[in-house]
Amino acid sequence: MKALVLAGGAGSRLRPITHTSAKQLIPVANKPVLFYGLEQLRDAGIVDVGIIVGDTRAEVMNAVGDGSALGIRVTYIPQDAPLGLAHTVLIARDFLGADDFCMFLGDNFLLGGIQDFVKRFQDSDADAQILLTEVAEPQFFGVAVLDDAGQVVQLMEKPKDPPSNLALVGVYMFRPVIHDAVRAIEPSARGELEITDAIAWLIGQGLTVTSHRVSGYWKDTGRLQDMLECNRQVLEGIETRIDGDVDESSELVGRVVVQRGARIVGSTVRGPAIIGENTVVTGSYIGPFTSVYHGCTITDTELEHSIVLEDCTLDGVGRIEDSLLGKSVTVKVDRRAPRAHRLMLGDHSVVTLP
Ligand code: DAU
Repeated sequence: MKALVLAGGAGSRLRPITHTSAKQLIPVANKPVLFYGLEQLRDAGIVDVGIIVGDTRAEVMNAVGDGSALGIRVTYIPQDAPLGLAHTVLIARDFLGADDFCMFLGDNFLLGGIQDFVKRFQDSDADAQILLTEVAEPQFFGVAVLDDAGQVVQLMEKPKDPPSNLALVGVYMFRPVIHDAVRAIEPSARGELEITDAIAWLIGQGLTVTSHRVSGYWKDTGRLQDMLECNRQVLEGIETRIDGDVDESSELVGRVVVQRGARIVGSTVRGPAIIGENTVVTGSYIGPFTSVYHGCTITDTELEHSIVLEDCTLDGVGRIEDSLLGKSVTVKVDRRAPRAHRLMLGDHSVVTLP
C-alpha cells in the first residue's frame, strides 16, 4: 500500500502567510501540520509516500527531505497548477502503479492516527473508503448522504444547500479503479477535478464505497481560527519538558515545553505552551495555548492563544491574543512623536487594534 499526500494548492484563506509559505508547514505545537500526517501514515505501516508539491515545493522539499527522518520514503510529484484533488491522482499515476493507496490532504489534522481506518480497508473488499464527521458548516466541505443502512448514496462538493451535515474528511482509501474514475469526470464549477466527484462516479458504477466516522478530533487547518483550535488541541496533550534555561526570577505554571537553547528570563509562562529552540523571552508573559517557534525574541510583551513562527521579534507591545504571526515578523513600540501606528504589512494582512 502507498500514500499520496497533497502539499500543493494555494492556501488563499491563510494569506498573507501563504503568499510565501506552504500552509502545510505551519507549525502546530511547533511541528508542521504535514508532519503529523506523515507520521500517522508511517505508524499505519505505509512508508512509500508520494507528495504532491506546487509553488511552495522548495520549502516542502527542504522540510521533508527524502523522508528518512520521519521513517518514510518520499517521491515528489510536481503539480504545475492546483487543478484539483482528483488531478493529483491523474499525475501520480506512474508512482501509484497498481497499488491500493491512502490519499491524505496535507492540511488535514487528525488526532489519534489512521491505523484503524487503514486496517479496516485492508480487511474489506470495498473499492473505496471515506471518513466522515459532523460539521456545523457543511457548505464548506464535501458532503455525504447515507441511507438507513449507513451506505453512502450521494456525495457532493461544497453544496450551497447541504442535504446533510456529514463532511468528508481529507483521508481516503482507494483501489486502482479510482484511476478510471479520475479519467471519467469533468472539472467542477470552480474549475477543479474533484475527488468527491470521482468517488461519486464509483458509486454510480455500482462499486462499493464504505464510510467510517471520525472518532477523535479532526480539523481542516485552512483558516486562522481552525489553526489556533488545532494548536490548542495538541497543546492540551503535551507534558512538561525543559531543555532550555529558565532563570530564578521566572515562573512556569502548568505544562510548559522549553526547547533546546531557549531562555526564559524574568518572565511567566502559563501552560499549556511551547517555547521553541533558541527563543529568548524576557520580562514577558506567555499565556495558555501559545506556541512560539524557533529563534524568536519576545521582550516586555504579553502573548496568549497564539502561534508565532520562526525569527519573530516582539518588543514592548502590550498584549497579543488570538494571533498567527508569520516568519521574521517584527512588532515593536516606537516612542517617537508623532505617536502613530507605523506599518509595513504584506498583501491580505489583518491588524486589529483595541
Ligand atoms: O478538508 C476536507 C475537505 O478537503 C473535503 O471535505 C473536501 O471534499 C475536499 O475537496 C477538500 O476541500 P478543500 O477546499 O479544503 O481543499 P483544498 O483546496 O484546501 O486542498 C486540500 C489540500 O490539497 C491542501 O493541502 C492543498 C492540496 N492541493 C489542493 C488542490 C486543489 C493540492 O496539492 N493540489 C490541488 O490541486
